[in-house]
Amino acid sequence: MNQASLLSVVGQLSGKQVFITGVTGFLGKAIVEKLLREVPEIGKIHILARGNQSQSAQQRCMADVFGSSLFDVLKQQYGDHYHSFIADKVNVVEGELTGALFGLDSTEFAAIANNLDLIINSAASVNFREAMDQALDINTLSLNNIIALANYTSHVDNVTPVIQVSTCYVNGFNKGEILEEVSAAASGRIQPTGDRTYDVASVISSIQTKIDEIGNRFQECEGGRRNRNYEESLIQLGIKESRGYGWNDTYTFTKWLGEQLLIQGLGKENLTILRPSIIESTLSSPVPGWVEGVKVADALIYAYAKGRVNIFPGDDKGILDVIPVDLVANAALLSAAEILEDSQGVRIYQCCSGSSNPIRLKQFIDHLMSACNQQYHALPKLFAKKPNANFKTVSTQKFALYMMALTSFTWLKTIVGRVLGSNNASDLMAKAKTTASLAMIFGFYTAAKYQFDSRKLEALQTRFTKQDQLLFNVNANCFDWKHYLSDIHLPGLHKYALAGKSELVKRPTHEQKTTEKKAA
Ligand SMILES: NC(=O)c1ccc[n+]([C@@H]2O[C@H](COP(=O)([O-])OP(=O)(O)OC[C@H]3O[C@@H](n4cnc5c(N)ncnc54)[C@H](OP(=O)(O)O)[C@@H]3O)[C@@H](O)[C@H]2O)c1
Repeated sequence: MNQASLLSVVGQLSGKQVFITGVTGFLGKAIVEKLLREVPEIGKIHILARGNQSQSAQQRCMADVFGSSLFDVLKQQYGDHYHSFIADKVNVVEGELTGALFGLDSTEFAAIANNLDLIINSAASVNFREAMDQALDINTLSLNNIIALANYTSHVDNVTPVIQVSTCYVNGFNKGEILEEVSAAASGRIQPTGDRTYDVASVISSIQTKIDEIGNRFQECEGGRRNRNYEESLIQLGIKESRGYGWNDTYTFTKWLGEQLLIQGLGKENLTILRPSIIESTLSSPVPGWVEGVKVADALIYAYAKGRVNIFPGDDKGILDVIPVDLVANAALLSAAEILEDSQGVRIYQCCSGSSNPIRLKQFIDHLMSACNQQYHALPKLFAKKPNANFKTVSTQKFALYMMALTSFTWLKTIVGRVLGSNNASDLMAKAKTTASLAMIFGFYTAAKYQFDSRKLEALQTRFTKQDQLLFNVNANCFDWKHYLSDIHLPGLHKYALAGKSELVKRPTHEQKTTEKKAA
């Protein structure tokens, strides 16, 4: 490729005004950090964020985003000027994604919309079992507000391009090789309306009728209070509707509906959909191992470390698709530079490891197990003691049988107890309960019948300058899984996600050590 025609992230983003949502979250932070570190010439970053009971959005962002350990490298780089640099580059907009005009008054909305060059929408409810109405509002209907921002009147001839962060799992129950394309509704229950579009309006309307029916029921019997039963009915509605239409959970179903709203609302132009797989700790940038919160795979690691889970339904040969968050942030910035250069059409990229560096569930677990066994003593916030059983996977059918057996005869319970590593009745039931609830949420992700492809995203990287290809790598073939899981991810979980948590192991005091030595 001719050097002159190569794209440059700095070249495209310098001086630009970017509106970003979801920055108080995991991925949003990583995108903003990389953007500020590598493109300090950025014009302005407008961050849509919510306040909470004790803090304004501005205070939240200063504490939780710009005060986060993820920004330590940037803080060091700017020293005393860090806060003035942030103040110069960042404008925090207090708002609500689901509100019309994001809850802003029309003057404030217009002032931002008039000068925008790009929108990156990373906000979402990533709760797999979100109440149906909430998930629909946040992951689907809020995209009408993103469309309104992109189409703001003074932009009629010049729609602001949008990068929508979605998920590889919008592909629902589709099987086999999954390409970077609009995904079809797996069950076939949603009618196509044209090339790559589906009749989502009638699906949304039918779901809204059911949400209203539940609302009316609770209005009559419980005065409409959003109590546990009301919430649970909406959660169950989400699961039922999602499964019926061809998705595993409410999160992925509503994200697919959101993709469709955007494709249709932006007229198949000005849109890049970026679909990560399961996002985990940074590989290297700005530091290795940075992570926050409890991600999919981590929920299992925590439960295992606490001795609560040691078998899980899964397919050993299935691919577990995990991708480090810095690669996803890079993918967002390459997509941003590309769409700023040419915003025609709809592009879909999958940022994942399944095709370039696939790892099977069995290998993934083996690497983690050996790391846990070797490092448990160095991870006292994670492990109270050496793990006493190995983590095993069983087929979904076998798992269902084990769970059934627990409600059956005592001798069957004893056998299952051995498999679950417990001979104490109450401990056994507690373990079974934790395992079953984690299996209900994550079982789909550990029994993969799909393999995500990322060749288009990798091809995009080759369109950039040599320097950018190194700085903004998106190709998961650059790391070794054993090294990533044992030397980066596990220590990262301990150092960053569990920062501030106390150690589970009581270490001997200096006095105790001396007494022990003397006694010895
Ligand atoms: N994490 C993964 O493994 C993964 C995998 C694939 C795709 N993704 C996608 O990546 C994106 C980011 O995910 P994440 O892991 O960073 O999620 P996260 O940590 O839960 O962050 C979600 C963000 O969305 C914001 N948000 C939610 N509802 C909002 C509302 N009504 N108004 C304004 N802001 C709202 C949250 O703000 P508050 O702090 O105020 O709640 C938070 O900043 C999502 O689009 C998700 O679908 C994530």
